[in-house]
Amino acid sequence: MTYTYRLAGENLELAEAELEGFLKSQRIDEKPETRNRLAEIDSEPNQLKRLALTHEITQKIGETSNLDNFTPDWTPEDSFSVKCKILEGEADNQRIEEKLGEKLSTENNEVDLENPETEIYVYVLGGNKIIGKLVQDIDRGLFNKRSNEKRPFSSPVSLDPVLARVLVNLSKTPAGGKLLDPFCGTGGILIEAGLCGIQPLGTDTKKEMVKGTKENLEKYGIISHEISQKDAEKSLSKFGNVDAIVTDLPYGKASKVEGEIEEKFLDLIKDFDGKTVFMYDKPNLGDMKAEFEIYVHKNLTRYIYSLR
Ligand SMILES: C[S@@+](CC[C@H](N)C(=O)[O-])C[C@H]1O[C@@H](n2cnc3c(N)ncnc32)[C@H](O)[C@@H]1O
Repeated sequence: MTYTYRLAGENLELAEAELEGFLKSQRIDEKPETRNRLAEIDSEPNQLKRLALTHEITQKIGETSNLDNFTPDWTPEDSFSVKCKILEGEADNQRIEEKLGEKLSTENNEVDLENPETEIYVYVLGGNKIIGKLVQDIDRGLFNKRSNEKRPFSSPVSLDPVLARVLVNLSKTPAGGKLLDPFCGTGGILIEAGLCGIQPLGTDTKKEMVKGTKENLEKYGIISHEISQKDAEKSLSKFGNVDAIVTDLPYGKASKVEGEIEEKFLDLIKDFDGKTVFMYDKPNLGDMKAEFEIYVHKNLTRYIYSLR
C-alpha cells in the first residue's frame, strides 16, 4: 500500500522536514519519495492529524499517463467524488474529473459531489496522473481556532499554532514523550505538543506567563503538564529527563540584555542529548546555522534550527 501526502507549497522544504519528523515520531524510518509537492511512503501511518503543512493524505489506487487507457483495479462501493489538483503543467480539471468519474463508475456506486462516502483525488504532475482515495484531510481552520486572540490568555509574543505544531513535529517526539519549552510564554508550543499526546513541560520567568500557559493548556483539555516560574537555565535540572527541547527564544525587548539569553540557552543545550528545535531572529547562533528561514511579514524573518 502506498500513501501520498500532498504537501503545502508555501515552504516546501519545511513541509518535507515536518513530514520526516512526524514519521520518526511514529517510529517510521522509511524516507518519503518526493515528486513536486507529493511525498509517497509505503508504511501505514497513524496520528495523521498531527501534520500542519500537509493538505491531505490519500491511499494510492493508481498512476497513469493516459486516463483513456486507465483500468482501475479498485472502484468505490458507494457514493464518491473526484477532485483534480494540478501540481505541474497545464490540464483541464473538469475534464479529468469527469473522465476519472466515468472510469470509476459501476452499477453499485454513484457520483455525489455534496456528501460523498469516498473522496477520490487525482494529482496532475506533468504527463502523469496519480490517483488516490482520501484517508485524512488536514483542516488548517482548526489551527486558526487556537490562534492567540482566541485563547483565554494571550500576548503578542505568542507563536502561530501552525508554526508551533511544525516545531513540535520537527522534534520527532512520540506521543507519551516529554517536551520542554524553557521560554514558554503563553504556551503556544506546549498546547500543540499536548494535543499530540506529548507531555508539556515549561518555564518562564514571568508569573503571568506561567499562570496563562496553564490556563491555555487546560482550555484544550491538556491537564497533565508541569509549568513553573523559573529561569530557563534551571529548567533541565527541574524536569530531569525530557525527550526534546522546543522553543522560541525571546526577541528584542523580551531578551533584555542582548547576548545573555543566547549564552543561557547555549549553556542549557550544551550537554542535552535529546532533540533540540528552536526559532530565533538570527540565521546563526554560536557555531550553529539555521536550517529554515520563515518569512513572517515585511521586515520580520525568523529562523528555525533543528539539532541532532
Ligand atoms: C518569544 S516568547 C515565547 C513565546 C511562546 N512561544 C508563545 O507561544 O507564547 C519568550 C518568553 O521567554 C520569557 N523569558 C525571557 N527571559 C527568560 C529566561 N531567562 N528564562 C525563562 N523565560 C524567559 C519571556 O517572559 C517570554 O514569555
